[in-house]
Amino acid sequence: MSTTIRSAEDLVKDACAAFEKRFGEKPSVAAKAPGRVNLIGEHTDYNAGFVFPMALPMVTVIVGRPTASGTCRVETLAAADDPLYTEFPSKKLEPGKPKWCNYVKGVAAQMPGNIPSFDAVVTTSVPLGGGVSSSASLEVATHTFLEQMGGAGENDTEVDKILRCQKAEHEFAGMPCGIMDQFISVKGKAGHAVLIDCRSQEGRLVPMSDPSVVVLVTNSNVKHELTGSEYPTRRRQCEEAAKLFGKESLRDASEADLEAKKSEMNEEMFRRVRHVITEIKRTDEAATALENGDYKTFGNLMVASHNSLRDDYEVSCKELDQLVEFAMELQSEGVFGSRMTGGGFGGCTVTLLKASAVDKVIEHVAAKYSASGNKATFFVCPPSDGATKVRL
Ligand code: ADP
Ligand code: GAL
Repeated sequence: MSTTIRSAEDLVKDACAAFEKRFGEKPSVAAKAPGRVNLIGEHTDYNAGFVFPMALPMVTVIVGRPTASGTCRVETLAAADDPLYTEFPSKKLEPGKPKWCNYVKGVAAQMPGNIPSFDAVVTTSVPLGGGVSSSASLEVATHTFLEQMGGAGENDTEVDKILRCQKAEHEFAGMPCGIMDQFISVKGKAGHAVLIDCRSQEGRLVPMSDPSVVVLVTNSNVKHELTGSEYPTRRRQCEEAAKLFGKESLRDASEADLEAKKSEMNEEMFRRVRHVITEIKRTDEAATALENGDYKTFGNLMVASHNSLRDDYEVSCKELDQLVEFAMELQSEGVFGSRMTGGGFGGCTVTLLKASAVDKVIEHVAAKYSASGNKATFFVCPPSDGATKVRL
């Protein structure tokens, strides 16, 4: 069975009730922002390439009110690191403990406007640490919340907002991420995936309105600790390779460039670069295939992407490989494609399949995955809207 996704309205109700309980007053300001699933285009954003995510129906909600105390007081209802309630001064913000609050503080520190101190409660339906960007959704929700307290700049664009949230993640969470997660959490649109050109920082909406085809997100419920160290290493390898090619980024490199420089790089770097160059191409092709309703081609590209992430980029893991393999066993029943999604080393897979096959696929994958000792969770996800203010 797929997991029932709690509505944003219910999350807002929970957060308001918790706010009143903790602070003895009603909140006056609220915002929500979605997590995302990336359909294809992995580890290409920080190479100025293409990515092709959609916003999820799972969202992070923040409710609160401005105060005059000079101290911010924030509680999360999510299963984050303790303590779940914390206080910090509203000026001269620095990262610290608990870690979860660094995403809130990090965004507050980036706001160009003069924000007051505030009280807030956060809650979410995005699985934490599952590779579907709970952290970006928390950043973008916080930004959308603080915009309403005078935090935005005068001529702010959505890209300013995206870049601020990305900077918060770099500086307060120590994660040198690309632009994808914050971009789609801000600019996602119901019924569409977005082909993002990370060089021009522009998105092209691609409709996904065929009711006979659905996106299934499967959480492996494992997270290997490698993510933290391996991501910056991959990023550095890509930057070194671009330098070797005399290019600004790997977006500007071709397979012919790679062959020409083969003797100047070690075998590992060759494979890393091959992933990036071929993945950027696959992503562009996949968006066109989806536009043409060519799900078969799209699915084949998803599987090619997974194999490249597994073999060349080496960011998959046994559990993700199994989930993809089990899903693809039902190709004849209507599974078009499946792959790991997000940074890797655990988290989720994304599968494109016929709506009529969903129950059967979930049953099959759940049974086989649990036979290997793990439990998966399944979410059928319509492409959803980006961040918005919430009227209380
Ligand atoms: P992902 O963004 O893929 O879910 P990360 O490891 O980058 O994974 O970020 C997960 C972290 O973000 C959590 O461990 C927690 O610190 C923080 N986080 C996300 N959402 C919330 C929330 N609603 N409340 C508190 N912390 C959150
Ligand atoms: C995420 C990161 C994104 C992107 C992705 C891999 O964890 O936040 O910016 O690089 O990994 O495609």
